[in-house]
Amino acid sequence: MKIAVYPGSFDPVTLGHLDVIKRAATIFDKLIVGVLVNSAKTSAFSPNERVDMLRRVAGELENVEIRHFNGLLVDFCRENGASVIVKGLRAVSDFEYEFQMALTNRKIANDVDTVFLTTTPEYMYLSSSIVREVARYGGDISDFVSSEIEDEIKSKLFPRGEKAGEM
Ligand code: PNS
Repeated sequence: MKIAVYPGSFDPVTLGHLDVIKRAATIFDKLIVGVLVNSAKTSAFSPNERVDMLRRVAGELENVEIRHFNGLLVDFCRENGASVIVKGLRAVSDFEYEFQMALTNRKIANDVDTVFLTTTPEYMYLSSSIVREVARYGGDISDFVSSEIEDEIKSKLFPRGEKAGEM
């Protein structure tokens, strides 16, 4: 059984992430989406909120599991019997950082390989930070995230429902 881990902050999960999850789930027998808890970055959504949103958008997929992790990604892979890390690549600008992480992970765990899925072009520009930025100012995020989680994101990041610029 080929098990892969798709790691990330998912703060929040976007349609681009979901596209990678669905495609990876058809390639591997089991896909574990690993939500990083101990990130150096401060997150807008708590680990539980991020996991919960992922479960709402991807929980129905039969061979996909959503879990938290702390510490090193390769340790999480080993604990879950995964030999592959899946990452999404959007643009050349992603490459240098992803390449460095893939090489580091391979250096510290040569039994775990990284596989890159290139983005579907319509999501090339999309990131969690873009979603947060648009939502914070009351913009329309319906093209960026699944409808199941749209309201939760909006009410957390734009709680008063006021349009930017209004007093
Ligand atoms: O969505 P992100 O924030 O780009 O995801 C980054 C993530 C979670 C893949 C990366 O930060 C990670 O793997 N963190 C765990 C610590 C680790 O193992 N680092 C790799 C050695 S460089």
